[in-house]
Amino acid sequence: MSGFDAVEVIAAKRDGLQLTAEQIDWVIDAYTSGEIAEEQMSALAMAIFFRGLDGAELSRWTTAMIDSGIRMDFSSLSRPTADKHSTGGVGDKITLPLAPIVAACGVAVPQLSGRGLGHTGGTLDKLEAIPGWRADLSGEAMMRQLEEVGAVICAAGSDLAPADKKLYALRDVTSTVEAIPLIASSIMSKKIAEGTGSLVLDVKVGSGAFMKTRDRAEELARTMVALGTDAGVRTVALLTDMETPLGRTAGNAVEVAESVEVLAGGGPEDVVELTLALAREMVAGAGVDADPAEALASGRAMDVWRSMISAQGGDPEADLPTAKHSEQITADTDGVLTRLDALGVGLAAWRLGAGRARKEDPVQAAAGVEWHVRPGDAVRAGQVLFTLHTDEAERIERAKESLAGAWEIGAQAGQTSPVVIDRIAAE
Ligand code: URA
Repeated sequence: MSGFDAVEVIAAKRDGLQLTAEQIDWVIDAYTSGEIAEEQMSALAMAIFFRGLDGAELSRWTTAMIDSGIRMDFSSLSRPTADKHSTGGVGDKITLPLAPIVAACGVAVPQLSGRGLGHTGGTLDKLEAIPGWRADLSGEAMMRQLEEVGAVICAAGSDLAPADKKLYALRDVTSTVEAIPLIASSIMSKKIAEGTGSLVLDVKVGSGAFMKTRDRAEELARTMVALGTDAGVRTVALLTDMETPLGRTAGNAVEVAESVEVLAGGGPEDVVELTLALAREMVAGAGVDADPAEALASGRAMDVWRSMISAQGGDPEADLPTAKHSEQITADTDGVLTRLDALGVGLAAWRLGAGRARKEDPVQAAAGVEWHVRPGDAVRAGQVLFTLHTDEAERIERAKESLAGAWEIGAQAGQTSPVVIDRIAAE
């Protein structure tokens, strides 16, 4: 493909013009093959950041990103497929109990996940805390596991939307991540290329999320639902709270342990509520008449979890790693916990070693934060509020600094947001 000039395309977007379908196809193709220089794509990403993409441009941009790689095909499976994508939050371990619950309802769940970057954790990093568990599966192994077990959580291959891999890395270092058309096309190109029949988006809103305000989260959700629906994927979005972190843990092994508690019929109420809300959407989207709460209560979801972990080399019965150092933070006064800030908790977990600053950094399986109270809980002076875990004691001070302004004890409980704030379906 040739005949366009990168400088002209950048100038057109800079001046607020609509890019043609041919220009968009060329840009994505030429950038993926290295014909367009990184600095030119940086300028175009910044122009899009300020000028946006209209509906027609966005749809073509997303299709071009999908066509930069392979499209997976699950149509030969004996069950319908459903997938979930979360825009990322603190303590967001929901994929771990969700995939087995939905699979136990008779729906195949091909969950291609990522590793964490910054203060939000990655599903693969969490699962890699399980001794022996492997994230990399061949296409054939994935299909076999989907047919036999019903759920797979694994790494996306490099041939799935390669244009997005390159562009996302560039956006990360040019301050152009937060553009709604670029986020929506990035997420949806991967999900559509993955070939799922139905998709549920968990769009987080609040301090620990990408989208800090309800308006921005809603705009992102509507944009993604429209892209999915136009591509023939039954897509709905739930707007969910990320002002407060989910559950009672943020890290890797600690979040696996909490997920297993949920599968065993316990676990924190908010994690159970959100998992079941997303599961109901996935099961309905797949056109299956089954009750996720029953799949959980009967223990069938736990059976799927064990099979899913074993099929990928993990030992579901093995002890999870524990950290070399732990430290507790206690309340200095009586009262009620009025606030627990997701961003502060996420940064603390990251500083303890649970996350990475650069994508090539290792993570500590046992690092993380446990909080023993949630907003609305009464506390007594001296009561343990947090336990910090890390293999490197020198990380603890910096983690404590992140947590210092992240919680408050007051005289009475304030208003707390519901976990599920809204539901957005195709118009
Ligand atoms: N996650 C993605 O995959 N892409 C984005 O642009 C943002 C979050």
